[in-house]
Amino acid sequence: SRYEIAVLVGSLRRNSFNRKLADGVARLAPAEFLFRQAAIGDLPLYNQDDDDRQAEAVKRLKLEISTAQGLLFVTPEYNRSVSGVLKNAIDHASRPYGRSAFAGKPSAIMGVSIGAIGTAIAQQHLRVMLAYLDAPTLGQPEVFIQNKEGLFEENGEIGPGSRAFLQKWMDRYVAFIRRHADQG
Ligand code: FNR
Repeated sequence: SRYEIAVLVGSLRRNSFNRKLADGVARLAPAEFLFRQAAIGDLPLYNQDDDDRQAEAVKRLKLEISTAQGLLFVTPEYNRSVSGVLKNAIDHASRPYGRSAFAGKPSAIMGVSIGAIGTAIAQQHLRVMLAYLDAPTLGQPEVFIQNKEGLFEENGEIGPGSRAFLQKWMDRYVAFIRRHADQG
């Protein structure tokens, strides 16, 4: 069977390292896994007044999440947390109360930053959100990446320094998603 993964990238920057990481990692997936980045840059700012008439962009995001077999969050660290753009998307897709798109959705987190701790604190914040949202998260391997020369090849593939590690991550992620899909 086929598995669709909705990827939420927390940066809107044109040359985002996190988007490049999401693209590069998707290339390590087996053929039956389709990684698709969800657009979150066109969402309005979340306002609870709109819960009973969610914008089309919000409905689209919720559909992409709920029809996917799994999620992957690729987040930058902004001021030691996730970006506001990503938090906004999470708030939208978690509402209205009782109709969250996240419940039971197997999820994983990774990120790349300029700093040496490689988004570690942002990722811990995101884990707290996903625990509250009742989305099971892959614990290991944790993926904290510092952007360095050679992280990506010219053609967008993951460079040799991180490739084996990220392939190991992908193998674990694929097994995690299959396990959840089997359980229905
Ligand atoms: C940053 N950056 C950053 N880096 C980090 O390691 N820890 C942090 O807390 C922050 N805080 C932060 C706040 C804001 C508002 C910006 C714009 C940047 C630097 C960050 O790692 C860098 O800009 C990355 O390039 C962001 O990821 P993308 O856009 O390349 O995917």
